[in-house]
Amino acid sequence: CRVLGLPTGSTPVALYKEAIAGVRRGELDFSAVHTFNLDEYLGLPPEHPQSYRRFMAENLFNHVNIKAENIDFLSGLPAGIAAECARYEKAIQALGGIDLQILGIGRDGHIGFNEPGTSLASRTHEATLTQETIADNQRFFGAGEEVPRWSLTMGVGTILDAREILLLATGASKAEAVAAMIEGPVSSLCTASALQLHAKVTIIIDAAAAAR
Ligand code: F6R
Repeated sequence: CRVLGLPTGSTPVALYKEAIAGVRRGELDFSAVHTFNLDEYLGLPPEHPQSYRRFMAENLFNHVNIKAENIDFLSGLPAGIAAECARYEKAIQALGGIDLQILGIGRDGHIGFNEPGTSLASRTHEATLTQETIADNQRFFGAGEEVPRWSLTMGVGTILDAREILLLATGASKAEAVAAMIEGPVSSLCTASALQLHAKVTIIIDAAAAAR
């Protein structure tokens, strides 16, 4: 695998720990790997403690042999939002597309920051976080620190272009969203349900997330 699409959040932390261990054991090699992250908060500089860029540095990039120039990220402080989104789409295309897109899922069924109501054909775009997502993400921020309300995110259409998709979900709070994704109608009210349209998706869930 050459081009990876990566998520942040609690769910992939264990996976990233395994990846780091794999590199240390000499079983994994990131020297020829390119990465694109799903999303970034608008308004946060890359070095901000809660930026997704910083999260990725601390949880993966700083500990594996990935080349700095092979890491691409949506800017939290873009000069122009439309131009930054277009740049990201072009950069993904220029590398031949994403080979493996790894995803988590929000309690409301979002993938990336594609909240309920987002077009299933959407490309990389500016997104408004729902109150539920802001509340869920507050745990990463200090008391009195505000979670940004806006982000840039790959669109559902961008995600569906990946050749292969791996979605991870753990815990009872995800059970409803997991059921809607797998057995519900394909609907923008649960953007993860769009994965039903993709030919090569693997979903790994624990018993609690599978409860419904
Ligand atoms: C993160 C992302 C989000 C998360 C989702 C689940 O880059 O795009 O869709 O995957 O909000 O977050 P956790 O894993 O923290 O429950």
